[in-house]
Amino acid sequence: MKVGFIQLSPVLGDLDATMSKVKKHMDRFTAADLVVLPELCNSGYNFESSQQARDTAEPVESSVFLEYLHSVCVRHDRYIVTGFNERDGDRLYNSAILIGPGGICGKYRKLHLFLNEKDIFTPGDVGLPVFDVSGCKLGLLICFDWVFPEAWRVLALKGADVICHPSNLVIPRLAQTAIPVHALINRVYVITANRTGREGDLSFTGLSTIAGPRGEILCQAGPSEEESGLVEIDLAAARDKMVTPRNHLLQDRRPDEYLDIVKS
Ligand code: ACM
Repeated sequence: MKVGFIQLSPVLGDLDATMSKVKKHMDRFTAADLVVLPELCNSGYNFESSQQARDTAEPVESSVFLEYLHSVCVRHDRYIVTGFNERDGDRLYNSAILIGPGGICGKYRKLHLFLNEKDIFTPGDVGLPVFDVSGCKLGLLICFDWVFPEAWRVLALKGADVICHPSNLVIPRLAQTAIPVHALINRVYVITANRTGREGDLSFTGLSTIAGPRGEILCQAGPSEEESGLVEIDLAAARDKMVTPRNHLLQDRRPDEYLDIVKS
């Protein structure tokens, strides 16, 4: 299975301009089975007002952006995960959408909102789902979710082979240091598609990463250029959870001793 990311800088509030950037990279990506795009890719991130966030949000069912991505999936027989500014009635969600040749086949809404996102978005309410894509189990997390090891572990316990992680990371190198560790301690592949560029007072940190189940960095973008990355992965490596011949990563856990984790 060939998986990749597109690292770019969406144009805040200008969907047409963002889509021509996405198209430029997508057209070159002929071999990919799965491609991950950054967080809030249809709108940009650092909104000047709540109204701008609302104006740039789209319902999943009538999104021009998702319709374009669906046409790419049909043309190339591929799956795409994109960050998505989702409007659902009066509410906005910071979402990740999974699309394939048959249309939209998965959705996750960010659980852990970062800074001013708390003023704009409703916290996620669809849990931590795992989706089956041609025999590969895909989990979805968004950007700041990376800080919470519980979320990664839940996805691993649900059988995720690959965790797709659309991001707009702003703290230099912090998440990029942790991503291979989350991959290592859960024995999963992680595809972090980060963005670059600046919006107002925020600079985005690039270094989009594909990490493997042994903590290895399989592919990493630079800190500031728009670029894409593609690697071949072997799902068997994520499904082998034996740390030693006598230690299984998940079966050797002692959940009775971890009850404090689930107290609020
Ligand atoms: C972030 O969650 N966009 C930092």
